Amino acid sequence: NQAPVITIDGPSGAGKGTVSQIVAEKLGWHLLDSGALYRLLALAVSHHGMSTDDVETLQVLAEHLDIQFTHNDEGKIDIVLEGEVVTQAIRTEEVGNSASKLAAIPEVREGLLLRQRAFAQPPGLVADGRDMGTVVFPQASVKVFLTASAEERAERRRLQLEQKGAEVDMQELVKTIKERDERDANRSVAPLVPATGALVIDSTELTIDQVVEEIISEARKAG
Ligand code: C5P
Repeated sequence: NQAPVITIDGPSGAGKGTVSQIVAEKLGWHLLDSGALYRLLALAVSHHGMSTDDVETLQVLAEHLDIQFTHNDEGKIDIVLEGEVVTQAIRTEEVGNSASKLAAIPEVREGLLLRQRAFAQPPGLVADGRDMGTVVFPQASVKVFLTASAEERAERRRLQLEQKGAEVDMQELVKTIKERDERDANRSVAPLVPATGALVIDSTELTIDQVVEEIISEARKAG
């Protein structure tokens, strides 16, 4: 597969989702939100009342799950699982937590691997996740590791939660984020580490536009 790929990996809250979307739009390239695939699988497992102990069945489900990303009338992307629009439903904390547990199962990662690679189509792909540059697209022309301090990521999360009307304990939030960083960086399958040669961008003090510009200019250099 010859389509060029830009990988954008990093912890949650670093701004990957927004940045990846804008970079893809500016370049006119496809976008892969790989976290959504893990979330979709988690939702399907819950819908079907499946056990997560049978890893072979999970792998088959990961390989064959009926998932579609379609453009709606407003020009936005609808995420469709087995015929049902679940764009919002996959964004809950509960689904995120189940997704992260499933993501630690090697058979699940294996089951999603080829599906993710199939997104690399001309004119190019921006792939957002944790292991895009290390495992899924090791040949990517540009690899980015986007991070931000735990405090800044907690602050961004606080804003999101408060918009939804939730009460937030900042100290608790920072602590949870640090624990998750530790776990993600040290898990045995596809740990969250910068790919070799990755451009590491710390977004703590940067605007979204500045991060986007840096990535686009790196992409131009790579041709
Ligand atoms: O990025 P997002 O929060 O949507 O991802 C949900 C979960 O899926 C993450 O917490 C992570 O555990 C897992 N994930 C992963 N590898 C990816 C993308 C997501 O392990 N490439």
